[in-house]
Amino acid sequence: MNEQANNKSSNTVWHHATVTRERRQKMNKHKSLILWFTGLSGAGKSSLAHAVEEALFQLQCRTFVLDGDNIRHGLCGDLTFSEQDRQENIRRVGHVAKLLIESGVITLTAFISPFRKDRATVRNMVANGDFVEIYCNTPIEICEQRDTKGLYKKARNGEIKEFTGISSPYEEPLNPDLTLLTGEDTIEYCVDKIITLLRKRNVLNP
Ligand code: ADX
Repeated sequence: MNEQANNKSSNTVWHHATVTRERRQKMNKHKSLILWFTGLSGAGKSSLAHAVEEALFQLQCRTFVLDGDNIRHGLCGDLTFSEQDRQENIRRVGHVAKLLIESGVITLTAFISPFRKDRATVRNMVANGDFVEIYCNTPIEICEQRDTKGLYKKARNGEIKEFTGISSPYEEPLNPDLTLLTGEDTIEYCVDKIITLLRKRNVLNP
């Protein structure tokens, strides 16, 4: 979507802050960026995002997790799971994440975000390197077996329409920054992989 063309708030003028992202990052002693977790429902996105947040917090980093289920209780509570509403969900979350990285915070997002073009929209909203796509690759058979929220059963019974992986598509990332086998590897191993990546990219020791 062309954000500019779609902007109905005319006669608004951008105000530039004197407390900039650069100054905040310097004070924080780390860079800010978006860690975008994508994968099926039950793949382990939220658990992993929160475990990474815990590890970063212990390293004195400023962090925040935006979680799909939680955001759909408030900011995105008006949205369904149609393709169009999922697109709007991700667009809004992208903008919130963009604001959060301006505030110097390492922002972790856990959304199915099943469509490549919607994830690309967020990637294109921010500077190169600010969007790190992490694919939580757990096969649907395992997600369905786990069925922690009982939603797969409901989807199979037809009680939930347009359920990702069953009656609505999931488009795997073609070129993610990191793919984690969240169905078989331990959470500690996955956290370690992410922290190592952040160190390699000089996020934690700029
Ligand atoms: S997204 O597709 O728009 O990115 P989001 O991550 O916000 O989805 O929400 C997914 C969560 O909503 C799932 O983890 C699950 O708990 C719940 N949910 C309810 N209905 C559906 C559905 N039809 N498809 C997928 N998840 C659903």
